[in-house]
Amino acid sequence: MKCTCSIVAAAALLLNAVSAQTFRRLGACPTLGCVFPPDQADFLAGQYFDIRLEVHQPVNGSEAIGLPLDEKFTFTIGKKGAASKPVTEYFKLQEPKLEKWNFTWFEDLFARDAKKPSLVNVASKAYRRVAIYEPGEYTATLTYNNGSSTEATWTIRDLAEERKAKNIILFIGDGMTTNMITAARLIGHKSINGKYQSLLAMDKFPVLGHQMTHSIDSFITDSANSAAALNTGHKSTVNCLNVYADSSINPFDDPKVETIAEIFHRLTGGHIGIVSTAYIADATPAALVAHTRNRGAYEAIVDQLLNGVQNYTWTDVPIDVIFGGGAEQFYPPSLGGKTYQNKNYYDEFAKQKYQIIQNRTSLLSAKNSEKALGIFTVSNMAKWLDRNVYRQNLNQSLSPAGDKKPALDQPGLKEMTLKAIDILQERSGDKGYFLLSEAASIDKMMHVLDYDRALGELLELDDTIKATIAHLNSTNCLKETLILVTADHGHGFDVMGSVDTHYLAAQNVDRKKRDAVGTYEQSGLSQYINTGNLTYTDSNFPSNWSPRYTLFQGLMADPDRREDWSVHKDGPRLPAVAANGTKDNYANPRDGSGKGILLNGTLPVGDDQGVHSLTDVPVFAMGPCQELFGGVYNSIDIFYNMAECFGLGRGTPPKQ
Ligand SMILES: *[C@@H]1O[C@H](CO)[C@@H](O)[C@H](O)[C@H]1NC(C)=O
Ligand SMILES: *[C@@H]1O[C@H](CO)[C@@H](O)[C@H](O)[C@H]1NC(C)=O
Ligand SMILES: *[C@@H]1O[C@H](CO)[C@@H](O)[C@H](O)[C@H]1NC(C)=O
Ligand SMILES: *[C@@H]1O[C@H](CO)[C@@H](O)[C@H](O)[C@H]1NC(C)=O
Ligand SMILES: *[C@@H]1O[C@H](CO)[C@@H](O)[C@H](O)[C@H]1NC(C)=O
Ligand SMILES: *[C@@H]1O[C@H](CO)[C@@H](O)[C@H](O)[C@H]1NC(C)=O
Ligand SMILES: *[C@@H]1O[C@H](CO)[C@@H](O)[C@H](O)[C@H]1NC(C)=O
Ligand SMILES: *[C@@H]1O[C@H](CO)[C@@H](O)[C@H](O)[C@H]1NC(C)=O
Ligand SMILES: *[C@@H]1O[C@H](CO)[C@@H](O)[C@H](O)[C@H]1NC(C)=O
Ligand SMILES: *[C@@H]1O[C@H](CO)[C@@H](O)[C@H](O)[C@H]1NC(C)=O
Repeated sequence: MKCTCSIVAAAALLLNAVSAQTFRRLGACPTLGCVFPPDQADFLAGQYFDIRLEVHQPVNGSEAIGLPLDEKFTFTIGKKGAASKPVTEYFKLQEPKLEKWNFTWFEDLFARDAKKPSLVNVASKAYRRVAIYEPGEYTATLTYNNGSSTEATWTIRDLAEERKAKNIILFIGDGMTTNMITAARLIGHKSINGKYQSLLAMDKFPVLGHQMTHSIDSFITDSANSAAALNTGHKSTVNCLNVYADSSINPFDDPKVETIAEIFHRLTGGHIGIVSTAYIADATPAALVAHTRNRGAYEAIVDQLLNGVQNYTWTDVPIDVIFGGGAEQFYPPSLGGKTYQNKNYYDEFAKQKYQIIQNRTSLLSAKNSEKALGIFTVSNMAKWLDRNVYRQNLNQSLSPAGDKKPALDQPGLKEMTLKAIDILQERSGDKGYFLLSEAASIDKMMHVLDYDRALGELLELDDTIKATIAHLNSTNCLKETLILVTADHGHGFDVMGSVDTHYLAAQNVDRKKRDAVGTYEQSGLSQYINTGNLTYTDSNFPSNWSPRYTLFQGLMADPDRREDWSVHKDGPRLPAVAANGTKDNYANPRDGSGKGILLNGTLPVGDDQGVHSLTDVPVFAMGPCQELFGGVYNSIDIFYNMAECFGLGRGTPPKQ
C-alpha cells in the first residue's frame, strides 16, 4: 500500500504537470517559426547541442490564416556584427531530410471542455551534435512563410579555463526551501532562551546564494525541467530531461543539450557518481546523462544510464556509482518488473563489470576499486523516519530482488554517499569526480503533506553533508572538493505556530478544534528535542517525534485533507483519495485516524497532492570557487559556475 502510494505519487505528478491551465501551442515558440535552442539561450563554449527548426501551419482554430505549409524555410547563423552563413555551411553539415508531422492542442479550458483541439501541421529539420567554440553573441535566424522570421540571440559564455576544483559534490534537497531548513533546525537542534546550542551543517557553509528556478515556458518548474537547467545551463520545459521540447510525438528526438557530467567526462576523463533516495530513473538522478522529452520513460532512462542515448550519436559517459531505488526497472517482467526491451538490467550492468548490490550490508563491504550498481528497494527508498523510528512500516513487499519479500536492510543517504565517495576517489585517481547526492523524499513527502517525514529527510541530508565534510577532511580531500547544497524548486511550506494535540483530540467540533492552534506567544518552544520522552537518540535528529505540542505547519496549496498535525506513525501520509470511480479527490477519511480538522483544498479537485511553488531556493557553497555562488542568480548559472570551477570553458575546437 505505502509503496504503491509512492509510485502513484510519481505518476500523479506527471499528470498534474501536463494539465496546466495556460495552454500554449508550443511553450517556447510563440510565433509560427520555432528555433531551438530559442532566443536568450546561453551556452558553454564547445558544449554539444542539437538544433531543431519547426515551421507551424495552423489548420484551424484562432491562428489559422490559410497559408500553405512552408517546406522551404532557411536558417542562418553568425556572430553579432559579422556576416551570417547558412547553418550547413557554418557547421559543415549535410542538409538533413525534411520531417513532417501534425499535432493538436487546446487553446483554453473552454476548448478542452468542448473537446475541440486546434490542429497544426509541421515542417521541421534537426541538425545534430553541433558546438560553437568562440565566446560572444550570435544571431540565429529562421526565415519562413515568404519573409517572416524568428531571430534568436545565443550567448556563448566566456569562462575561465583554469581548473580550480578536482571534485564537485552536488547535494540536491529535492523541493527544499529555506522555510523547511528553518523548521528542520527547530526540531533537530536544541535552543536555550532563543539561542541554538548546535547548528545544521548547512548553517556553517561560508557562502550562501539564491537561485531562481523558473523554467523556459512556465514560472513553476518540475524536477526534470529544473534538473536540466542545473545540468546543462539551458532552461527547459516540464517533464524534459536535457532536451528542448519540440512538437513531435517521439519523446527521444527532441533537441538535446550536453550535460556537465558528459562534458566533464569528455574533456577531462573525470568520473561520475549518482546517489538518490528516489527510484534511480526519477528525474533528478536521471538528469546527469539522460536525454528525453518524457521523464516517465523510466525503462529507456535506465538503459541510457548504462549505454548512453540510443539511436543517436551522443557522448556516452561510463558512470562509476549508481545507488538508489527503483528495482522494478531492473528485474525482468517474469518477476513483475518493467524493463527496457524486457531485459534483466541487473544482468546488463553485471556484463559491464558492475558489482550488483542489493542491501546495506553488501554496500558497506563493496569493493572501492570496481564500478557499483546498488538498488535497494522497489520504488522510492524507505524514509529516514521509517528506517529509524517506525521500522514496522518496512514490512512491505519491496525487496530489490523482485521476490516480494520486505526490503529491511536499506542504507540511508549518508551510507550511500560515503561509499560513493570512496569508490569515486579510488577509481578516478588524479582525474577527479562529479557526484550527485539527492535527498529525493523531502519533495515526495511534501507532495503528500507528510511534513514530519519531509523534515526527517532534510535532517538526513544535513547529517550526510556533515559526515561528507568530515570524511573528505580525514582523507585530505576537502580542499580540492567543491561542495554545493541546493534544491531544484520549492513547495509553499512554512510553520506558523504550534498545535496542542491533546486539546485538539478532545474536541468534536471543527471550529473549536482550531483553538488548539497557538500563534505568537502561544506558539511556545520546540518539544522535539530532549523532552525526556526519547524515541530516538542521535544529536542531529529529534529525540521525540510525537510531543504534545507539535508544529502548526502546512502548505499554500492543497487537496482537501484532514489535519491533526501529528506524526504519521503507520507510514507515509495519503491525504486525499478519489471518490469511487471518479477523479474527484476528497480528504482521506482514514488520514490521521479521522480525528483532525477537515480542510477544503484550493487545488483542482483532480489533484490528490500538493504542488511545487515559485520561491527562490538557497545555494550553499564550500570549497574552491565558493565565491562564485554568493548572491542572487538564475538556476542555469549553477551549471556555468561548476563548469568554470572544473575549467571546462574551452574556447577552441578539439584537434582533428
Ligand atoms: C480542427 O481539425 C481537427 C481535425 O479535423 C478536428 O478534430 C478539430 O475539432 C478541429 N478543431 C477546431 C477548433 O475546429
Ligand atoms: C496527422 O499525421 C498523421 C500521420 O503523420 C496522418 O495519418 C493524419 O492523417 C494527420 N492528421 C490530420 C488531421 O491531418
Ligand atoms: C509564398 O509565395 C508564393 C508565391 O507568391 C505563394 O505561392 C505561396 O503560397 C507563399 N507561401 C506562403 C507560406 O506564404
Ligand atoms: C532504438 O532503435 C531500436 C532498433 O530500431 C528500437 O527497437 C528502439 O526502440 C529504439 N530506441 C529508442 C529509445 O528509440
Ligand atoms: C545482502 O545481499 C547479499 C548478496 O546478495 C546476500 O548474500 C545477503 O543475504 C543479503 N543480506 C540481507 C540481510 O538481506
Ligand atoms: C508483516 O506483514 C505481514 C503481512 O501484512 C504480517 O503477517 C506480519 O506479521 C508482519 N510482520 C511484522 C514483523 O510486523
Ligand atoms: C579538518 O580536520 C582538522 C584536523 O582534525 C580540523 O582542525 C579542522 O577543523 C577540520 N575542518 C573541517 C572543515 O571540518
Ligand atoms: C511521550 O510519548 C507517549 C507515547 O508516544 C505520548 O503518549 C506522550 O504524550 C509523550 N509525552 C510527552 C510529554 O510528549
Ligand atoms: C467504494 O466502493 C467500495 C466497494 O464497492 C466500498 O467498499 C467503499 O466503501 C466505497 N468507498 C466510498 C468512499 O464510497
Ligand atoms: C468544504 O467544501 C464543501 C463542498 O465541497 C462545503 O460543503 C463545506 O462547507 C466546505 N467546508 C469548509 C470548512 O469550508
